[in-house]
Amino acid sequence: MEHTFVLKGNFIYSQDEKHLKLEEQGYLVCEEGISGGIYRELPERYAHLPVTDHGDALILPGLCDLHAHAPQYAMRANGMDMELLDWLNTYTFPVESRYGDMEYARAAYGQYAEALRESATTRACIFGTLHREGTLLLMELLEEAGIRGYVGKVNMDRNSPDYLREESAKSALADTERWIEESGRFTKLRPILTPRFIPSCSDELMRGLARIQRETGLPVQSHLSENLSEIAWVRELCPKAEHYGDAYDKLGLFGSNGRAVMAHCVHSPRKELELMKERGVFVAHCAQSNMNLSSGAAPVRTYLQEGLSMGLGSDVAGGYSVSIFRAMSDSIQASKLRWRLKDEGLAPLSVEEAFYLGTLGGGAFFGKVGSFEEGYELDAVVIDDSRFLPPHMLSLRERLERVIYLSDERDIVGKYVSGEKVV
Ligand code: GUN
Ligand code: FE
Repeated sequence: MEHTFVLKGNFIYSQDEKHLKLEEQGYLVCEEGISGGIYRELPERYAHLPVTDHGDALILPGLCDLHAHAPQYAMRANGMDMELLDWLNTYTFPVESRYGDMEYARAAYGQYAEALRESATTRACIFGTLHREGTLLLMELLEEAGIRGYVGKVNMDRNSPDYLREESAKSALADTERWIEESGRFTKLRPILTPRFIPSCSDELMRGLARIQRETGLPVQSHLSENLSEIAWVRELCPKAEHYGDAYDKLGLFGSNGRAVMAHCVHSPRKELELMKERGVFVAHCAQSNMNLSSGAAPVRTYLQEGLSMGLGSDVAGGYSVSIFRAMSDSIQASKLRWRLKDEGLAPLSVEEAFYLGTLGGGAFFGKVGSFEEGYELDAVVIDDSRFLPPHMLSLRERLERVIYLSDERDIVGKYVSGEKVV
């Protein structure tokens, strides 16, 4: 049977936010892409399956990136001295406009897909641009790279430059429906409705997207309460909305018709959080981008305490790194600064919590993903950390901590997505 095998090695995964499950030299059973659980001794009933022995390497669940912009990979680390709105106008919009040119799109998306293939990421929620054909090409290249998850054709029909704006709400919706139909040919990537953010979408466009969501059940991704000038702008644009989240909610795009993931939530007021919890809206916590664009440090401790659904996002290219290990260490560091400088009542993130957010926490957006417990889709990355092992013994937990801070793509020696070996 395809995608049925056993992996041997040192397993680390999250039991919950606070606790790791560690199994030294254990056996992980994969049956048709689904985990059959981890065993200290391989049960007799699995003795006939092929075993891949990964020796002393660490085997972790594949990492989940809840928020990234594929077209911006080509401009990562540029404009990092600006805040959001200036950065969008000066760097982002001109680069995104290039993706109407399929030759450019193939070259640039090819680089991004290759970077994701080489990374520890197995699942992602990704923005394309407003271009339908370019976005289909992105889906094709990501499928080839073995990545699973969601890709969105961006919608933007107002407050955007002439060279990067949809003609009308009507044409944007027609184009979106055509793109959804055409993306039916992909098996690993699914479409996700993607209004860029409130300032760039008319009410007519938003209501149309809400209708498409009711008809198709597709999820939604967007941005929320990221940066102070953006939030002030939304207040001007939507004077009747109680808060930024309410502006989405009044238009039917805040989890009332299906799943939604909102990036950033750095400055979300309490009422916004309460509504997110009520609607099951996911937070994509993008610590590096929030530092680069001087947006702030999100109160992740509050979100954990309130029991919000949450995962990590690279936000390429507000973030310059595709690595979700890097997102884990950045989240820990940002939370320490927030704790020391802003609110000593909100304790910083632990290694366990950051690892949870990058695996099981974000994985929940994709279904049963982010764990090796029986019944979960089998996404795994195999890390050879021998390059930075010291001469003394380390526990598996200590080795995981060093992987989070020290590893890069050189150290990834195997990768499985839904039981399919992609590296
Ligand atoms: N808000 C609207 N568009 C964007 C974008 O491309 N990146 C970030 N970080 N925030 C946004
Ligand atoms: Fe973003």
